[in-house]
Amino acid sequence: MKPISLADLCQYKKEKHKFATITAYDASFAQLFAEQGIQVILVGDSLGMTIQGESSTLPVTVEQIAYHTRCVRKGAPNTFIIADMPFMSYATPEQACTNAAILMQAGANMVKIEGGSWLCDTVKMLCERSVPVCGHLGLTPQAVNVLGGYKVQGRDEVTANQLIKDAIALENAGIQLLVLECVPTSLANQVTEELLLPVIGIGAGKGTDGQILVMHDALGITAKPPKFAKNFLAEAGNISDAIRLYIQEVEQEIYPSDAHSFS
Ligand code: KIV
Repeated sequence: MKPISLADLCQYKKEKHKFATITAYDASFAQLFAEQGIQVILVGDSLGMTIQGESSTLPVTVEQIAYHTRCVRKGAPNTFIIADMPFMSYATPEQACTNAAILMQAGANMVKIEGGSWLCDTVKMLCERSVPVCGHLGLTPQAVNVLGGYKVQGRDEVTANQLIKDAIALENAGIQLLVLECVPTSLANQVTEELLLPVIGIGAGKGTDGQILVMHDALGITAKPPKFAKNFLAEAGNISDAIRLYIQEVEQEIYPSDAHSFS
């Protein structure tokens, strides 16, 4: 497989070619996902829940993300890997640089940070130092204690407008991808149209440029899956076919359906 670049993802957006991405935390799954055609893998701090059995992403450390990034890179040498920067690892721009370096040296192509306009200086500093940055808006799980739970965000006009402003500010600061989690489809569509960069949705409807799923949700492992999750393994029968079905349904805009989205 030819290594995928950010320019390719921008081209997908221009051509309205929807793309599927997924989380992975180890070499075996990363290899299998890459073999089925997944071009972008997120080493998410969701590993706090999926791998470590924690009740949130907050206990995850930079060293743990670096370890899993190294594993994923071994399994998927040509895949574009985004590594999550854990809670409090980017509290200041300087801290962000130090910790992003660890993740890039572990094999990431890009780091992801959660939050709005307050991160603009951090984004600029990382970009100037050759670290590509992915933003994350909407439901930002590291802020669960402020948000009061894992709830849909941007349902009213004020919070929706704020999210749009944050997305534009982050794009102007230099982010090159944006993950939009658990927002109404209409808001996700507006953000996707407004921004030049590719927007990857999770619980954000089918209008975003790409989709991402936590692998445990896509394979029916999660005990209480979120509304937007779909168990592709149940339909496909084996893991390889499940991942191919996921990619196909995203490309053909079958998944996510209205039943997997918020209005
Ligand atoms: O950590 C993660 O897996 C994520 C996805 C839910 C986008 O951030």
